[in-house]
Amino acid sequence: MIDIHSHILYGVDDGSESLEMSLEMLRMSEASGVSDIIATPHVNRKGIVPDWADLQERVEALQSAANEARIEIAIHLGAEIELNGATMELLKKCTASHTYCLADSRYVLIELTDQTRPSIAENMLNTLLMRGYWPILAHVERFPQLLEDPDRLLAWIRNGVLCQCNAGSFTGEFGPKVQERARTLYRNGVVHMLGSDGHRTTFRTTDMREAREELARLARKEQRQDLWHSATGNADRILWDRVCYPEMPDHWQAQKRGLLSRLFD
Ligand SMILES: [Fe+2]
Repeated sequence: MIDIHSHILYGVDDGSESLEMSLEMLRMSEASGVSDIIATPHVNRKGIVPDWADLQERVEALQSAANEARIEIAIHLGAEIELNGATMELLKKCTASHTYCLADSRYVLIELTDQTRPSIAENMLNTLLMRGYWPILAHVERFPQLLEDPDRLLAWIRNGVLCQCNAGSFTGEFGPKVQERARTLYRNGVVHMLGSDGHRTTFRTTDMREAREELARLARKEQRQDLWHSATGNADRILWDRVCYPEMPDHWQAQKRGLLSRLFD
């Protein structure tokens, strides 16, 4: 398993607070079956842009500490970049240095906000694609405005935008509405990547064992490919900087609503 979204670097954002916490988070990842993890500190949130060279040094130091602690996991650097006008200044053109990209690839993890208007996001995403980036939308299930207009979301995917969901959303960690949206996205085959979005060791962790079981159960119920495996296959393409061509759904299956759907789950 490749965890493409995590806040395991300590002291850079609202994620890990210490080296010990980072190592404990990595142990949780390892126990979940994660072989590679991408550290994605917040970038451009409240205008704060961490220095890329400094983040690279932090990843190297954490990898050394993990090796010493005999934690078998490869740590890659990335970023979770909030999408706004400043992003377009930060990501002017995708160059060979792949600054603020995921694991030295052309993929960028893009975070929308509750205030994001889909029409404005669409323009920015198209611009990023034209500049040579391959955007992945972080935790799509947290944005009801995207599921209210699935045709628009499908058009984005057709243009080359990919979707990431948080593993914990499938277990209900972020509430029943987010869980239902994650299931709807999965049912429609538009969850391309998985991440823990782990911030700490006590809540919003990097432990994905429960999610792994839930995804296997869901796969049997929906008779679809297990997301745990398909997402790993897609994430592997990030590590190799290869393009991902997702399958498109024939038609959009609307979200199941209300108590009845949950009773007969
Ligand atoms: Fe995150």
